[in-house]
Amino acid sequence: MSAMEELKQKITQEIETATDLKALDEIRVNALGKKGAVTGLMQKIATLPPEERKSYGQAVNDVKTALETMLESRLAVLKKKELDARLIKEAVDVTLPAYDLDTQGSVHPITQTIEELVGIFADMGFDSATGPSLEDDFHNFTALNFPPNHPARAMHDTFYITPENEGDEPHVLRTHTSPVQIRYMEAHQPPIKMVCHGRVYRSDYDQTHTPMFHQMEGLMVDETTNFGHLKGTLKEALSAFFGVKDLPLRFRPSFFPFTEPSTEIDIGCSWKNGELVIGEGDKWMEVLGAGMVHPNVLKNCGYDPQKLQGFAFGMGIERLAMLKYGIPDLRTFFDADLRWMKHYGFMALQRPNRAIGE
Ligand code: DAH
Repeated sequence: MSAMEELKQKITQEIETATDLKALDEIRVNALGKKGAVTGLMQKIATLPPEERKSYGQAVNDVKTALETMLESRLAVLKKKELDARLIKEAVDVTLPAYDLDTQGSVHPITQTIEELVGIFADMGFDSATGPSLEDDFHNFTALNFPPNHPARAMHDTFYITPENEGDEPHVLRTHTSPVQIRYMEAHQPPIKMVCHGRVYRSDYDQTHTPMFHQMEGLMVDETTNFGHLKGTLKEALSAFFGVKDLPLRFRPSFFPFTEPSTEIDIGCSWKNGELVIGEGDKWMEVLGAGMVHPNVLKNCGYDPQKLQGFAFGMGIERLAMLKYGIPDLRTFFDADLRWMKHYGFMALQRPNRAIGE
């Protein structure tokens, strides 16, 4: 048998036994590709004496055509085989009963509370801003008048992020939304009236602390803003939020590095049959921190504290949501439990209105 015939038989057998498209394509390339065996035989024509060229050329061409035909029919067989296999694998039994999907979604109490508060402050002319979760030391601490190495930094159980390059200052997951005040003042000129909200992070976990929670921050700066404006704004906003006309507020002296004087604010409440009643009674519940913006903070943002003054406040969104909607455990906010969401979530088209006390 000639070498050509032998090659043809070898390739023919390979084609017949190829079991998938990839293997078949490899056979095609090895035979008929640029460097294929049959292509090699064809290239030999030019080296033969002229009288042998015709019959040799004819013979190689026949081999080539025969192989091409075989490849094509094997290709069709294998393609069908692969399609059949896929159809079996991906078969859907349309007679099976449908899953009982509860497709009714609901709005998370945190989203609901944020939107209520942003709406209330928008009505009072406050812009709404956001800022990054990953902060540098300057915006999270230094600009807010936390002195370097001051124990006040330890008030927040800070998550430090290892810097990419050794020696660089570590970033932090912001421990509060107050850095957004700084970013806002850097980017805007007074008069300023803004609120911002977002996630904040502290390394803490128990019934009243989670490592991630939400805050809302407010800031108002111009030439005349004073503590009376702070009181009036918060009284109005909290009364609207809790739907209680003239909600009683109590201001207690406190300390924050970024405000002077600083205050913590309680709302009046009482307990009736184990239920919290907001706005009535002789008990107090702390809801937020606030104060007059410290002159150093204004200076750090390039403002002249001789000319400008303002107030700031910060509050925990979860805490407000828990009080308003009677949610007992903070940790459940982040359990992603659909039964909890069904109970405490809000139907998208039936959200409670911001009830401003009649
Ligand atoms: N940043 C404070 C905290 O996380 C909350 C706060 C208190 C913000 C007083 C303020 C403020 O803007 O004036 O504990």
